[in-house]
Amino acid sequence: MTKSVDEVRADIPFLRTGIIYLDNAATTPTPEPVIEAMLSYYHEFSANVGRGLHRATRRATEEFEAAREKVARVIGAKPSEIIFTKNTTEAINIVARGLDLKKGDKVITSLFEHHSNLLPWQRLEKERGVRLEVVGSSKECLLDPVEFEVAMDKNTRLITTHHVSNAIGSIQPVEEIGKLARDHEVLYLVDAAQSVGHMPVDVRRIGCDFLAAPGHKGLLGPQGTGFLYAREDKIFELEPLLTGGGIVEDVELHGAKLVDPPQLFDAGTPNIPGIIGLGKACEYVMDIGIDKIAEREKKLTERMLVIGKYSQVEVYGPMNLNRRGGVVSFNISGLGPHEVASMLDELAKIAIRSGHHCAQPTFRHLKINGTARASVHYFNLETEVEKFVELVGQIAREMGTL
Ligand SMILES: Cc1ncc(COP(=O)(O)O)c(C=O)c1O
Repeated sequence: MTKSVDEVRADIPFLRTGIIYLDNAATTPTPEPVIEAMLSYYHEFSANVGRGLHRATRRATEEFEAAREKVARVIGAKPSEIIFTKNTTEAINIVARGLDLKKGDKVITSLFEHHSNLLPWQRLEKERGVRLEVVGSSKECLLDPVEFEVAMDKNTRLITTHHVSNAIGSIQPVEEIGKLARDHEVLYLVDAAQSVGHMPVDVRRIGCDFLAAPGHKGLLGPQGTGFLYAREDKIFELEPLLTGGGIVEDVELHGAKLVDPPQLFDAGTPNIPGIIGLGKACEYVMDIGIDKIAEREKKLTERMLVIGKYSQVEVYGPMNLNRRGGVVSFNISGLGPHEVASMLDELAKIAIRSGHHCAQPTFRHLKINGTARASVHYFNLETEVEKFVELVGQIAREMGTL
């Protein structure tokens, strides 16, 4: 049984502040059942995981591992393929640092990545002599698999791309790129920060080896949570970022026998309440229905795109709704993005993001410094979007008369 928009809104305390929250690409508000799941950890079984035998630690470990199953279900993976992280950035860094990429190996990425999917590769370029090639040329920031094929050579080890652009919303052909990578026996990492929870994502359909995602965006989970999917035959190729307590079977003074993945990636005390909250959040979005979320976001996005009719407003990215996620990036001529965001906040408590959205190469490509960006989730109301469109129109008209 799906959850209605009203039910979801009633579950989100933050919305009672009267905010019109259109900054979901940055992070999302947390529903009460997710908060309650975290509280129940603190109230009822506030112990460490994977250590000891008492009842509280057993319960904590059970709930923590149950979260792995729930995350896996969302993306069509197995629990043994899920590594918990604190965010998407950490998940990408695990792949970049953890694979045995050496001098001369080639990594191909795109011009339209979030900085979190560029800087980890730049570091390998500097520190290990890995060759980084960056492709992408379209005005709508859509990726063309042919450009990746052309960039490939016999030393290419990995391709990495985002699924949906946080900067301008483009949906990328990840299944085609996945097929290309498989055909050439090259690894494929997908940055799914803007897709998981917003639209159906199936790692087997994409055919990727790794997929990095946040808990705190589309999944409506707590901040400080994320995960990395690593295909079962590839997870053993990854070195964890951290080593230490909680991941050993036996330790001598000069050596240790470590546990297998995915628990191998849980060194130290993890974010136990956060991960339990993430598990609940996965259940929550699956109860709404991820298809339903995608369908609703598409309708809301279509309404937001109406701002493009004002002559002073420029909207960036694909206009085809099948190629755009719930992100609308725009500028009003004569105003900077920060001014637009402040005005919407002042006028009607509308929260949008402004700036370069951690994607400076994208904006250099578009020859602009940044944009104002509105982004939706299932809980947003048509009336909120109408208000946004109305006020953008009002600001644009006022600018037109100056
Ligand atoms: C496409 C993309 N990749 C990576 C990130 C980084 O995500 P996180 O903040 O979870 O590390 C973001 C955040 O907005 C993003 O939109």
